Amino acid sequence: MLLALESSCDETSVAVIHDGRVLSNVVSSQIKLHAEYGGVVPELATREHLRNLLPVAREALHVARKALGVPPSGGPATPEPVEAGTPSATPLDHFDAIAATLGPGLPQALMIGARAGQALAFALRKPFYGIHHHEAHLYSPWAAAAPGPAHAPRATHHADFSAFQPNVSLIVSGGHTMLVFVEAELKHHLLGGTVDDAAGECFDKVAKLLGLPYPGGPELDALAEQGDPRAFDFPRPMLRDLHDDFSFSGLKTSVRYFLRDQPFILDDPDRVRDLCASVRSAIVDVLVTKTVRAAKRLGVKCVTASGGVTCNRALRQQLAAACAQHGLTLRLADKSLCTDNAAMVGLLAERKLLHGTPPTPPDAEVRPSWRLAAGTESAR
Ligand code: KG4
Ligand code: ZN
Repeated sequence: MLLALESSCDETSVAVIHDGRVLSNVVSSQIKLHAEYGGVVPELATREHLRNLLPVAREALHVARKALGVPPSGGPATPEPVEAGTPSATPLDHFDAIAATLGPGLPQALMIGARAGQALAFALRKPFYGIHHHEAHLYSPWAAAAPGPAHAPRATHHADFSAFQPNVSLIVSGGHTMLVFVEAELKHHLLGGTVDDAAGECFDKVAKLLGLPYPGGPELDALAEQGDPRAFDFPRPMLRDLHDDFSFSGLKTSVRYFLRDQPFILDDPDRVRDLCASVRSAIVDVLVTKTVRAAKRLGVKCVTASGGVTCNRALRQQLAAACAQHGLTLRLADKSLCTDNAAMVGLLAERKLLHGTPPTPPDAEVRPSWRLAAGTESAR
């Protein structure tokens, strides 16, 4: 059994993993706090992580205990810090390892989860696994929603790695857009990434031009559902380039000029919906075409996708259609595991533990700029 922590950006999350089963995965999102500023404010994120980590951990332990059918001994989960001497809700001695995201991410934010995980591992004399956030994303599509046991029927997730097959993985969120060739468990090669804005950032910036609240991606997606994706023709950057890199800042700029020249569009809700659908279509076309092309080139039979933008309806549908057309199996991360969470951190750490990967030194520094190296074994 593993305890995992994630605090790299604006989600504080703690999960308990046992044999590929996500016993608990509690996520406290700071989206509302940062919305006022139109983006993540690092100092506020750090303060919130500090404030939320213990309540989130306590809830995660409580839920895990219930999932295991262990009678409560630590009292109800309350959003208060655990006091010294309070019996914990899950016997901490049962953990085989502690994992936390070590990078990349906001330096101070990373430190909260990583240092807490390292201290816990040190105190419990258990191995510590410092996890690469993007590498963790590669593992979330393998966790499928599964009903919990009869005594705790809340839906949970279970990752079946016996079904693992080499895949091309699209990681697409507000901070990152990348294609990764996952050749085997714990063995991956970075194929390409964005040279400027991430796809989620493009969604958010276009949404801001339309006056939608931060983060605008989900709202733009909802408006796009009722619009015509062929109404306006926006560029599909790097679509025809045979490499696996992306670029989305030009698309955002072309929307800005388009609105500068035709500001009256903003007064017509139908045209705004068409605009949303057209922009979404441009972004999704690029993501889907390049992902499928990479999979075909590498001869893999499986495509996976994760990250916040994987919640996008058109992306999910078009990836499914393109994969079906090309005979590829598609594994999309369950929507609840698309955005940042500790479950994926714990799932990867458990694979490392099972494969005998040496643990991370308990005093390892956080790595805010840690790159998912091209053509290397699993990040250590
Ligand atoms: O994985 P995530 O929480 O990571 C970051 O913090 O980067 O992803 C958040 C990003 C935001 O840019 C958000 O607008 C985008 O994912 N997003 C969406 C949708 N849901 C979330 N973008 C387009 N359509 C959606 N349905
Ligand atoms: Zn992420």
